[in-house]
Amino acid sequence: MDRLWYGGDYNPEQWPSEVGEEDVHLMQRAGVTVATVGVFSWAKLEPADGRFEFGWLDDVLDRLHAGGIRVDLATATASPPPWLVLAHPDVLPVTEDGVRLSVGSRQHYSPSSATYRRYAGRLVRAIADRYGSHPAVEAWHVNNELGCHVHRDYSDESAAAFRRWLEARYGSVDALNEAWGTAFWAQAYGSFEEVMPPRTAPTFRNPTQLLDFDRFSSDAWLEVYRAEARILREVTPGVPITTNFMGFFKPIDYWSHAAEVDFVSDDHYVDPADPAAPVFAAMTRDLMRSLGGGRPWILMEQSTSAVNWRRRNAAKPPGMHRALSLQAVARGADGVMQFQWRQSAAGAEKFHSAMLPHVGEDSRVFRETVALGEELASLADLVGTRLSARVAILFDWDSWWALEQPATPAELSYVAIVLRWYTELWRRHLLVDFAKPDADLSAYAVVVAPATQVLSTAAQENLAGFVAGGGRLVAGYQTGVLDDRLHVLLGGYLGALRETFGIRIEEFAPPAEPSLSGGPVPALAIHGLGGGTAREWGEIVRIDDAEVLATFAGGMLDGLPAITRRRSGGGSAWYVATAPDDLASVVDAVLDGAEVEPALPHPVDGVEAVRRGNRLFLLNHTDQEIQAAGHRLPSRGAVVSPGD
Ligand code: GLA
Repeated sequence: MDRLWYGGDYNPEQWPSEVGEEDVHLMQRAGVTVATVGVFSWAKLEPADGRFEFGWLDDVLDRLHAGGIRVDLATATASPPPWLVLAHPDVLPVTEDGVRLSVGSRQHYSPSSATYRRYAGRLVRAIADRYGSHPAVEAWHVNNELGCHVHRDYSDESAAAFRRWLEARYGSVDALNEAWGTAFWAQAYGSFEEVMPPRTAPTFRNPTQLLDFDRFSSDAWLEVYRAEARILREVTPGVPITTNFMGFFKPIDYWSHAAEVDFVSDDHYVDPADPAAPVFAAMTRDLMRSLGGGRPWILMEQSTSAVNWRRRNAAKPPGMHRALSLQAVARGADGVMQFQWRQSAAGAEKFHSAMLPHVGEDSRVFRETVALGEELASLADLVGTRLSARVAILFDWDSWWALEQPATPAELSYVAIVLRWYTELWRRHLLVDFAKPDADLSAYAVVVAPATQVLSTAAQENLAGFVAGGGRLVAGYQTGVLDDRLHVLLGGYLGALRETFGIRIEEFAPPAEPSLSGGPVPALAIHGLGGGTAREWGEIVRIDDAEVLATFAGGMLDGLPAITRRRSGGGSAWYVATAPDDLASVVDAVLDGAEVEPALPHPVDGVEAVRRGNRLFLLNHTDQEIQAAGHRLPSRGAVVSPGD
């Protein structure tokens, strides 16, 4: 398409058919270019086993086409109809404590269910045969938010699939025993048949079993995608395929899923009440661009105002939706879509905002909808343009899963740790890519590895090679502690990177709240770079061959290294053994002299600057008017100006 995508989920099946004409007129007024159709239409498309009713959808597609609106056509497989579940209760997923979930909400199926796959496959083929060459169809929208509500399924059918997955991975049960370290707690298996998914158990389950079940479950969802995509590619090889991701979504390793879609798309719902929301949104946009290898992506869902699924649902203040939509475009999106076009009159989402609210056209939200459509039309020349970053943050689902397992030195949040580093780069208007630890890093001057706990041998060597080749690598605590079987990298952690950093880690010593008398987690003091207080983590670092840039002060860590650096050739390896409150100074020191180019030379509080194509996007996320780069930015306002 030579226009940006703009529109939303369109669910005309919730309305009498005469509303359809009005919808198209209002969509035209709003500058809608694409509608996502059919996401939850299975029960209407196939009201009884094998009886397909497409007439209503024919009308919808024809009407949209006549109105010049393209269609992102869903395969409608996200919610199996009640008749299917009644006839085949084996499609229902089972929780880790053995509860079989019921019909009556949505997405009630196991990704491993052969029955589900058979029925879904038949539906997808019928839809592809009927609409594959319909002139309105712009793309296929496979399923919807795979894994959204049912992250993992612990049914017997999943257990069997897990065993097959393990057999393919390990080849023999001896190899599995070795990888899982089953000598511990008498867990050794005599055959694959004895292996179970990590169902509810008396205490800590085997860590590698947990990790492999996370990997398996992510792959099971990928299999659901593949089964549909295979049919679509066979019937309509020319139509691009996507499935909507959910940003930093723990259950699915999006690196593997992204490799199989034609373009990445994402659903992102900011919490308007959270001051960190714009930064987290920016970070998510950067992840999406990175997942697609830098290709443009689509923001597939966001809300025009409040959602309905938080405890209290803040409305978006005027301007916020525009600023965050422009943010997505600035960070590489070729379109911004919303959930949904017309606000529902019934059902669990009737209190979720939409482009056309309950009250109708004469509303703030619809006026903002129209204005955004106009503005996006004026940015059409950006379609297809790419951005390039010189700074990367490693992001790794194995590390996420491992770091947040039970039985660790301290409960940590992987995404919160990543966000701290990202925020410092965002403030400096530096574009950030995310990268896998074993990815080609040669495009980057600086790579940050926050809590990248799991590093395979290949990843360790990759990072060592990055520094040897002149790169700046910054590792935070809990990086390189475990290999990809979750076995400890013995001898001071870090594996092949021990030489790169010139340190060994002797002992973890995170500050912790007293368990009997309670009280907050105490802060640590540090002297030197990033001096002041520090939180969350401390450890005993031993120097082999590195400079000490900061030390802990007081307590058992007194005088021990908190931040170290080892330079070699043109490269340098920084190690940060805690979370300094003044991370800004640390990041300044890392970036000093690095070949990186911020969109604006200096941070301005609450202002985000990004360059894409020939445009400079300046976004004011505060409720104050701000002057930046010679522009007056109204509160929650944005200016898009020719870049240079
Ligand atoms: C998800 C779903 C949509 C809708 C929205 C509500 O993104 O894909 O169908 O339920 O959440 O926020």
